[in-house]
Amino acid sequence: MKLVAPSILAANFNHLGDEIEMINNSEADFVHCDIMDGVFVSNISYGLPIVQHVHQISRKPLDVHLMIVNPDRYINEFYRAGAAIITVHYEACTHLHRTVQQIKDLGIQASVCLNPHSPVALLSDIIEDLDMVLLMSVNPGFGGQKFIENTYRKIAQLKDLIIQRNSKAMIEIDGGVNFEVGEKLYNAGADVLVAGSFVFGSENPIETIAALKRL
Ligand code: DX5
Ligand code: ZN
Repeated sequence: MKLVAPSILAANFNHLGDEIEMINNSEADFVHCDIMDGVFVSNISYGLPIVQHVHQISRKPLDVHLMIVNPDRYINEFYRAGAAIITVHYEACTHLHRTVQQIKDLGIQASVCLNPHSPVALLSDIIEDLDMVLLMSVNPGFGGQKFIENTYRKIAQLKDLIIQRNSKAMIEIDGGVNFEVGEKLYNAGADVLVAGSFVFGSENPIETIAALKRL
């Protein structure tokens, strides 16, 4: 699969409606929403009201990435706000199995994210329950950071685990994606590429999204 999820963290929030309309008119597969609480990561982004507004006008499913502590407390609310996929961080969940079941019970897709330092093997007893795994290819918290090369190795390990356990999980990569990195990521086995500054900082975001899907 070659799917693209533009991250609106890099969008112009003075014209958020236009940015969502651009995504609607593009070949993007999801809208990636980055929720940061200033505790799990050192940045604060945006929260439920923005996700609700995006959901009202988006024709693409919302891929909600929760960079927050105790995400269990907010899963129902992000579901009601319109999330189609909810990603929680392995590092933020003490009872990850319960959290994943909570997401699945809502009838939406459950995804778990690993920080760059967290080994893929941590997911070996949960992989069968997951619809997606998000591998951070930068340290979470900010857009526009440099891609971490070790991600390619983690994709190979994750692919092996997925095949071994007969899991249907997609592999999503988040952080520092551009054409050069993106091509290697798809070749390594990635299914979904998140791209923030590369899409919204480009001259023609619609063309950039289309080109990312054709790498
Ligand atoms: C980083 C976020 C990313 C971010 C990616 O913590 O999870 O989704 O928006 O931004 P770029 O593509 O600019 O690295
Ligand atoms: Zn993200």
